[in-house]
Amino acid sequence: MVSPQEITQTTQIEISPLQESDIAQLVPILHEHVRDSDTHLVQEGEITDIVSWMRGQPDEANNHRIRSYFVARDINGQVLGCIGITKAATYHLIHHQTIAADTAELVNFFVTSTVQGRGVGRKLFNQVLAEARNHGKKYLVLDSGPRYEHSWPIYDKLFGNSGTTIQNLYGPGYHARTWKIDL
Ligand SMILES: CC(C)(COP(=O)(O)OP(=O)(O)OC[C@H]1O[C@@H](n2cnc3c(N)ncnc32)[C@H](O)[C@@H]1OP(=O)(O)O)[C@@H](O)C(=O)NCCC(=O)NCCS
Repeated sequence: MVSPQEITQTTQIEISPLQESDIAQLVPILHEHVRDSDTHLVQEGEITDIVSWMRGQPDEANNHRIRSYFVARDINGQVLGCIGITKAATYHLIHHQTIAADTAELVNFFVTSTVQGRGVGRKLFNQVLAEARNHGKKYLVLDSGPRYEHSWPIYDKLFGNSGTTIQNLYGPGYHARTWKIDL
């Protein structure tokens, strides 16, 4: 891995579809971020689910969705982060008043903490915007729970301050923030 200081907007970061061989490098990144918001304990069950979705297993939403993933890697091939895209969950369509054919959802967006804030997430996000447009989508949506509230200002930036609240999405008192960008 190149040093974090070498990761700049101008450093060559390659974005490519996730391959099975990337998963071993992504698991430690998931361990950094997929933690209980109160206890901060790693959520192994959620990580197992994410890995299964990365391997092409359907998730539980909307009668089972397939998620497509991209990874970012540095010039040495080290995986720095991932992003997923899938059909929008039904609660997004209701909240944002869009239809399924027009709407993609961003999922599982993680960059290793040592290089956060250096443009890797932007490159992953731009890839997902392009992917959604290529599939004829008009909107990209995202929701994020209280666990990731520290990242909400980043979503405000990426999604153009379009954020609104879905009450109690993650349980009583655990409100989600959701964003929608026109493509
Ligand atoms: C969210 C995350 C994937 C973004 O990746 P990143 O590499 O840190 O993002 P970038 O450095 O490319 O920044 C993305 C944009 O947000 C802006 N930004 C970065 N940090 C910011 C901050 N603290 N406040 C406001 N804007 C910020 C950047 O300027 C950039 O905008 P620009 O391209 O228009 O200049 C990463 O921070 C992360 O893994 N966070 C923890 C896990 C998480 O919350 N995942 C989401 C689960 S839903």
